[in-house]
Amino acid sequence: MKKHNVLITGGAGYIGSHTAVELIEAGYGVIVADNLYNSTLAAVEGVRKITGVDVPFEQVDCCDEEALRGVFERYEFDSAIHFAAYKAVGESVERPLKYYENNVGSFVVLMKLMGEFGRRNVLFSSSATVYGEARELPVTESTPRLPATSPYGNTKQICEDILRDCVASSEGGVCGISLRYFNPVGAHPSALIGELPRGVPGNLVPFITQTAAGVRAKLSIFGNDYPTPDGTALRDYIDVVDLARAHVAAVSRLVEGRAEAGYEVFNIGTGRPVSVLELVRVFEDATGVRLNYGFAPRRAGDVPAVWADVRLANEKLGWTAVSPLADTLRNAWKWEQKNS
Ligand code: NAD
Ligand code: WQD
Repeated sequence: MKKHNVLITGGAGYIGSHTAVELIEAGYGVIVADNLYNSTLAAVEGVRKITGVDVPFEQVDCCDEEALRGVFERYEFDSAIHFAAYKAVGESVERPLKYYENNVGSFVVLMKLMGEFGRRNVLFSSSATVYGEARELPVTESTPRLPATSPYGNTKQICEDILRDCVASSEGGVCGISLRYFNPVGAHPSALIGELPRGVPGNLVPFITQTAAGVRAKLSIFGNDYPTPDGTALRDYIDVVDLARAHVAAVSRLVEGRAEAGYEVFNIGTGRPVSVLELVRVFEDATGVRLNYGFAPRRAGDVPAVWADVRLANEKLGWTAVSPLADTLRNAWKWEQKNS
């Protein structure tokens, strides 16, 4: 059987490196392309160590068309997964052009080259942020996208639309899937790869593990007056290895010609809402570490609750999140202890 290769842009990053591992373990070949803006070669080494495969790595900026063309010329692959992007929501409000230039620019370059080289399948890393403060919960793929509340969120909507339009166009020749991730958390159980937050973490789980490790003095829980059972906000925390496996399922759907439309969208979450307080308690129980935390005002821009209806992904991708939250948080803690 022919071995299918997958180009992974942003493949040295948090989700990309886990996806590289799962693709290799499912029998795919991978090529990692990353400019190391938010990652290091250690992640590529981690992928090599876990899989025992000498994964090819190309240090390129995906906005640089000539450099990325070189990667297309050097490697055979039918599919690309586009993780490469900046992801700091707050910074995107301060520096919108940086986000439009990189997140949209890199995707336009990738799509041009996919067309030019006749490479067929594209997976795009989208986000639950496209739903904003949804009026119906859980959100399904047909829940309307609301106007983005940040330039970062807008880049996700724009790139989803670019993919949809390229698939529909006569010059396209590509098939595409957007995966809307909810809240990716955790690390590979080997602790060889995980999330590398820059500076003070904005996301909850890295802030919790850094607090547990003594790097941060105290966790502030933003808001305990939301209209939720315990007053803290509800999210859908998806284990990064489960999330990585969703990419394997989606690539296989494209490669095996099982897609029911040229362009498809799937929510990737657990389908289970978890409050901030509940997550803190599960972390404490799973690790035996007591967390210093207190309540603080709501964080600007946060929605009270968002979680996924995952039936479409379960049915069409044959994929389900399986990791218990306690295991996920234990893996996050193991990764933190190795790194702090
Ligand atoms: P990450 O920062 O760890 O990974 C992104 C990788 O892309 C990094 O290694 C970075 O160096 C690289 N990169 C950025 N711009 C590049 C460019 N122009 N050329 C080449 N490489 C470039 O982030 P992540 O958490 O792994 O996120 C991966 C994707 O998933 C992103 O598109 C992100 O927006 C999306 N996403 C992430 C989350 C989350 O909470 N982590 C949620 C929803 C969607
Ligand atoms: C989760 C909950 C916070 C930190 C963000 C992006 C989104 C997506 C995923 C990319 C919220 C609370 C957090 C802290 C806290 N990324 N919290 N104290 O905001 O759901 O989503 O990451 O696409 O676009 O917006 O994730 O981890 O920041 O927060 O109380 O120190 O934890 O208020 O309720 P969020 P998060």
